[in-house]
Amino acid sequence: MIYLDNNATTPIDPEVKEAIIKGLESFGNPSSVHIFGRKAREVIESSRAKVAGLINASDEEVFFTSGGTEANNMAIIGYCLNFGKGHIISSLIEHPSVLQPLSYLQELGFSITLLKPDSEGIISPEDVQRTLRPDTILVTIMHANNETGVIQPIEEIGEILKGHDAVFHTDAAQSIGKIEVDVNAMGVDLLTVVSHKFYGPKGIGALYVRKGIRLRRILHGAGHERGLRPGTENTPLIAGLGKAAEIARRDHGKRKEHLKEITETLFEELQKLIPGTKLNGSYIKRLPNTLNLRFSGIEAHKLVEALSEQVAISAGSACHEGKYTPSDVLISMGLDTEDALSSVRISTGKDNTMEEMKEAAWLISEAIKKL
Ligand SMILES: Cc1ncc(COP(=O)(O)O)c(C=O)c1O
Repeated sequence: MIYLDNNATTPIDPEVKEAIIKGLESFGNPSSVHIFGRKAREVIESSRAKVAGLINASDEEVFFTSGGTEANNMAIIGYCLNFGKGHIISSLIEHPSVLQPLSYLQELGFSITLLKPDSEGIISPEDVQRTLRPDTILVTIMHANNETGVIQPIEEIGEILKGHDAVFHTDAAQSIGKIEVDVNAMGVDLLTVVSHKFYGPKGIGALYVRKGIRLRRILHGAGHERGLRPGTENTPLIAGLGKAAEIARRDHGKRKEHLKEITETLFEELQKLIPGTKLNGSYIKRLPNTLNLRFSGIEAHKLVEALSEQVAISAGSACHEGKYTPSDVLISMGLDTEDALSSVRISTGKDNTMEEMKEAAWLISEAIKKL
């Protein structure tokens, strides 16, 4: 079995697993003043420093959450609730954990503009500039898309927003651990971190909040995480996220190079074995591990099923009551329904080998022949 679905989630790194188990032993309530509490607090604060180090933030700008979904909700709803109404700019290619909070805000009376990507899957900074209004309070554009791996021009958008009061949020769920993520270079005020996309555990994440940006709490309770996110901290998972962040920073260059090498080889092999293989989205502005590929005449969900015990990949289509609907992301890029329904996402990870790429390409091409 070859695992090529790392954008869905990554396996736990053995060093991370060890950190989680050790974290379980620090069982004290981190709010307690006795030694048990202080030990757990130490684990949490040391992890906070590691997450901050990974994204070039300071420790007090990092808030732990239950994952990416909560971090996105906290950023978007938490910031906009400072205002009674206002305008928000986002895009059609965002994850549901961004789009759904936006729908909720729309119901509350906020006005939303969703920008369309070009055929390469890129949101244009000019479109952000063009749609900015005096009452725009928030711009939220993801760093890299989960389906296509296309990297968005965050720095350019950040530059545009320097001359405007709007706050800038980016969902960096897919980019952290794969490409450079630096909150200052990117010019963002809020940034979402998702542990299980870079070999950390699920159910834990973080939100970066630039010093001076005020959020309203969306969960109400005690004063944890400086009043922003109540609930006793999950020490073992926070320890796991901290370790994953430490390793991601330490191994960044090596991992990026490896992902690029194996993913390019896989693409070349597939093109050789399956004539007519097409890449959806930009080839250049792309995460080093992601290929969104179109195999004309093939139903993606059938291919994914046929390979399900040999190679783990995914189809962007969703199945509702036996009927397949195409990926909204691919449709927004201008693909027709048939092309979108014949596209699959292949996402490599740090532990994949060159041999696996050759084997996977062969297995995929054999499955396509049968179909
Ligand atoms: C781009 C993006 N944002 C947010 C999330 C949500 O993260 P979580 O699963 O931790 O809620 C995901 C995960 O699927 C994602 O790919």
